[in-house]
Formats: sequence, C-alpha cells, structure tokens
Amino acid sequence: MIKAQQILLTKYTDFDRPIVFDDTEDSNFKLITKEYDVSDDELLRHGEIFIQVIYLSNDPAQKGWFTPYKSYKAVTPLGEIAPADGIARVLASKNPRFPKGCYVETFTGWCDYRILDTQKEKCHIVDPHKVPLAKYLSLFGGTTMTAYFTVFHYAPQVQNRVWMVTGAAGAAGSSCVQFISKVLNPKLVIAVAGGKDKCQWVETLGSRVKCLDYKDPGYKKDLFKLLNADKSEIDVLIDHVGGWILNNAILYMSDFSTVVQVGAVAGYNSPSDGFTNYANVITKRITIKGMIVMDHAAEFGQAAHRISQWLKDGTLDVNNFPEHIVQAIGPNFTNVPQLWTQLFQGVNRGKYITQVNEYAQGRESRL
Ligand SMILES: NC(=O)c1ccc[n+]([C@@H]2O[C@H](COP(=O)([O-])OP(=O)(O)OC[C@H]3O[C@@H](n4cnc5c(N)ncnc54)[C@H](OP(=O)(O)O)[C@@H]3O)[C@@H](O)[C@H]2O)c1
Repeated sequence: MIKAQQILLTKYTDFDRPIVFDDTEDSNFKLITKEYDVSDDELLRHGEIFIQVIYLSNDPAQKGWFTPYKSYKAVTPLGEIAPADGIARVLASKNPRFPKGCYVETFTGWCDYRILDTQKEKCHIVDPHKVPLAKYLSLFGGTTMTAYFTVFHYAPQVQNRVWMVTGAAGAAGSSCVQFISKVLNPKLVIAVAGGKDKCQWVETLGSRVKCLDYKDPGYKKDLFKLLNADKSEIDVLIDHVGGWILNNAILYMSDFSTVVQVGAVAGYNSPSDGFTNYANVITKRITIKGMIVMDHAAEFGQAAHRISQWLKDGTLDVNNFPEHIVQAIGPNFTNVPQLWTQLFQGVNRGKYITQVNEYAQGRESRL
C-alpha cells in the first residue's frame, strides 16, 4: 500500500500577495493523503498510469496558475492538485506506451504519487540513460526552450549590438546570456541579477558579459556609467522581471530597438511598480513582443537537437545549465509550497527543482 500526499488548490490567490498554506480559512491549499494498492489490478482504468513523482519544477508562472484568471492556460479548477511540471516514474500502467518502470515528464502537480490519465493529460517519456533525469527540467526543460525561442525567434538576429538580460541568474535568464554571448557575437551583454555572487557567476557564462547587481543601491548609476562609457544604448532587452528594472532600462533603449517580454516576476508575488516611462516606447519607436514558449512546443525537438550540437562542438557547456535541487521527501513534503515561494527571494542559480521521492542518481548517463 502506498500512502500519497497531494496538495490541492482550494482558494485562488492574486499577484499582489504571497500564497498562504496553513490551517486557517485564508489558506490557498490543503494537504490530503490517499492510499493506493499498486498490486490491485482494479487500481487503474484503461489509459491510466500510477506515477511516483521524483522532481517538481519550481516556476514563477505557477503563481498565475493559482489565480482565477485565464491566460495561455485554462484556470485551474478549485479542488484539483496544485499544478506543477515534473518528472515521475511509472509504477503501474494500463497504457503500453508508458510501461511500468519508465520515466515521464508531465504536469505532475504538487504530489508525491497519483493516478494520471494519459488520454486526457499530456505526458512524454524521458530516458535517464540518455540524459540525467533532472536535466529534462533544466538543460532540456521549458526554461532553456524559453530562452532558445526568445533569442532565436523573437529577438532580432543582430551581431555586434548591446543586449540586456534581466533575471540573468535564473533558469531562463542564464540560458539567454549563453545563447547571446556564445552564438550571436554581441558587442556587450548587460546581465542583471541580485547579489555579488550571482553576478560573478553570470559573468563566467560567456565573453563580453557584464553583470549588474540590482540589489546594490548604485545599480541605476552603474548602468548609466556602463552605457555612457562608450555612448552605447540597449538594442535588445530580454526582460524576465518587469517593474522598476524595466522602467529604468527603457530610458536607455536605442531607436527602433526591441524588448522581448518573457516574464514580469517582480509583479507575481507583490505589487510591482508601474511602467511610468512608457512614452519612450513611442519616442524611440520600440517594439515590445510578448512570448509564450508553449506556442513553440512542436519545435522543441529541433531546438533540443541544435542545443545538443552546440554541446558537442563546445559552443555550450553542460555545466553552465545547473540545477538547484532542494528536498521535500516523506514528512517534509509539506514544505513544497514554502520551497516554491523562495524563488521570489532568488534562492536559485539556474533551474530550481524540488525532489519529493528518493532517486538513485548513479544509474544516470553522463552527458
Ligand atoms: N513566457 C514564457 O513562456 C516563459 C517561460 C518560462 C519562464 N518565463 C518567465 O521568465 C521569468 C524567469 O523564469 P525562470 O523560470 O527562469 O525563473 P527563476 O529561475 O526562478 O529565475 C527568476 C529569477 O528572478 C529573480 N527575481 C525574483 N524576484 C525578483 C524581483 N522582484 N526583481 C528582480 N528579480 C527578481 C530571482 O533572481 P535574483 O536573485 O536575481 O533576484 C530569480 O532567481 C519569469 O518571469 C517567468 O514567469 C516565461
């Protein structure tokens, strides 16, 4: 008998406040436990699989999935397992495409075990003998894909120009810095991250990368000085953050420049500053493009192939796509919401993942 823990979304939250997970009526979530008998042939219906979740992806976007607002994804019905992407092992199966013992990437949700209906929910096989399991969330996961399409589809393919990347130590941002620096021959990549250590790491990700610490009170002056040193302006801004960092950067954009708006994390968990310098969009004839990576799902294979080639020929280094893995196994599973919240405090460098079941890493391939 397997005792499963599942965190249900029971009350919607909003972008201007943090989530609540406690015993009060303000709580957005409720923890339930369920028992499953995996030896019982009646456990699953045709097309269903029983999964043991190994890794949960921590994504800022989940905040939107916990609100009552429709976006590119349908509103999560109350009472369902709180949505999250993840990697799981199949422990029992009534779908021959996903046999017992295989691993899948799917919207596992915040749980350690559950039944998944493969006829209704998207899921695909991942092979730990080809790529270490966690790398399916980092190097070959949604955030690297986001960076790939941001840089090679939405941004102008220009060389010898000034780029700026905000949220540059996060999963999507650090991938963007590498793609720009190592493939597009920029004049300068201005990266923005929180804290000296993070900035030092980001500067190791490519040549001509200068990282500015937005938590330093001198940030605005430093940006001005850096650009003013050789009368440069920002030609392409890849923004993951929004808020005052975007509002300030827009002052230094060149005429006919481009902003790719990938995220606005500064406003996902607390009220964010407004875009008061908006008139610059007009006077500088700036193009602002929103992007959603799932619009490119059909092209993920092609992108992964190109990334693999860059890894093989040394353009990219697998070690520069790190995972920051924290554990919430067994009785610690209740920490999942709190651990997720910490992405708004910037705990991670690269891809932030929570492990919710033991996993023997030794059997994995080395890339
Ligand atoms: N459009 C799409 O399809 C798509 C897909 C994936 C992700 N995204 C978006 O891209 C952004 C980055 O996602 P990710 O998965 O790479 O996240 P991540 O790894 O968690 O990185 C986000 C980083 O943002 C920084 N941050 C948090 N709050 C901030 C604030 N108030 N001001 C400035 N920086 C802040 C933190 O680093 P510091 O320590 O530097 O503050 C954090 O590490 C998010 O906005 C996300 O929603 C969009």
